[in-house]
Amino acid sequence: MRVAVLASGRGSNFQSILNASERGKLPNCKIKLLIVNKKEAYAIERAKKHNVPYYIIESKNKKREEFDLEMLEILKSNKIEIVVLAGFMRILSKQFISEYKDKIINIHPSLLPKFPGAHAHRDAIEAKAKISGCTVHFVDEGVDTGPIIMQESVAVDIDDDEHTLSEKILPIEHKIYPKVLDLLTSNKLKIINGKVITETD
Ligand code: GRF
Repeated sequence: MRVAVLASGRGSNFQSILNASERGKLPNCKIKLLIVNKKEAYAIERAKKHNVPYYIIESKNKKREEFDLEMLEILKSNKIEIVVLAGFMRILSKQFISEYKDKIINIHPSLLPKFPGAHAHRDAIEAKAKISGCTVHFVDEGVDTGPIIMQESVAVDIDDDEHTLSEKILPIEHKIYPKVLDLLTSNKLKIINGKVITETD
């Protein structure tokens, strides 16, 4: 399947997908392109290094619909089938989501539905949570609300802060995101009544 990655910054999850792909762990997945909405996104360097075509569409001062239409044009002209959000810090329009219904996935650094939004680590620390983790989910019209595909937890220690918690969660993100992408591109995920069923071999 033809896959596009959307990112806004560091791109370490994009890197984990590139690595998995180069190691032959994503046999049904072709990373065709990267789209970033910020020209300073480090994800661009990763794309260059791995010869992945990239597009910079500056989102600043642009209406959501206009920005999303520009993305859709690129995705459609490249026959993209699956969209992977990897630290993409923008909410997608209804139109974009309906064009790629059940074909967009996101990774979030908490055990959803706990701590959605842009400050998941800080919110987990402030709530004095004992466990947190990460979630890969399908994207629907809400913020971090779509059907959950895979989750993994970590213990939050008494002396953890936002930074140490994110350092604990990130390696797990890098482990589960390629796994989910493999399942999705191998047609092993189904959504039944809002619940994701994973087909096992
Ligand atoms: C990750 O923590 C991811 O869960 C969240 O944004 C962060 C992106 O990091 N959605 P990176 O750009 O992939 O390094």
